[in-house]
Amino acid sequence: AHPPMIAPSILSADFARLADEAAAVAGADWLHVDVMDAHFVPNLTLGLPVVKALREATDLPLDCHLMIEDPDRWAIGYAEAGVHNVTVHVEAAADPVRLAKDLRAAGAMAGLSLKPGTPLEPHLDVLKHYDTLLVMSVEPGFGGQKFMPEVLDKVRTARRLVDTGHLTLVVEIDGGINADTIEQAAEAGVDCFVAGSAVYDAADPAEAMERLRAQAAR
Ligand code: DX5
Ligand code: ZN
Repeated sequence: AHPPMIAPSILSADFARLADEAAAVAGADWLHVDVMDAHFVPNLTLGLPVVKALREATDLPLDCHLMIEDPDRWAIGYAEAGVHNVTVHVEAAADPVRLAKDLRAAGAMAGLSLKPGTPLEPHLDVLKHYDTLLVMSVEPGFGGQKFMPEVLDKVRTARRLVDTGHLTLVVEIDGGINADTIEQAAEAGVDCFVAGSAVYDAADPAEAMERLRAQAAR
């Protein structure tokens, strides 16, 4: 298998020092950026202007997780801004197949995210058009929540479909990933681990990240 990917989430970083906080995890695979609109989720974070500034401030590939309503309207701007992977929520997208095609045409990878209660099976045909599947292991909206192990059934199913060639995508997990939970997620078949508080609440974020990566690789 490929070495595990780690995507630190800047939701738990210091928003007044985003460039420094990105530099603090220079060894990351992707930098996870949570965009929230106070409608799809009950929290408000940042949007395209800040993402554009971040794009100039770091060489890390940006992994933008759009927790917003009407991604059919807004997601393309993130792809055009040079975001590496643009993830939208299947619960919010009106035409997710069209959206994936537009994101890829703009040069980005296309990601589809499922809230904890959203089943995988009804969306398998749509997922053929996507490059990443972001399985939420907490209700989206806030960092520092408790990991929901029941979502690992979706990870196992996705892993099997990728390994048998039915899907071609990166299996990503987001929410509650830390030293106590990353091994069970790795076991279930996750490729890419988002970690917010476990990285940025640590005294040494880079060291915390590398410790998580080593745990996931075992
Ligand atoms: C939650 C966000 C996550 C968040 C994860 O809605 O999508 O990316 O930053 O934070 P932790 O790792 O602390 O659960
Ligand atoms: Zn996220």
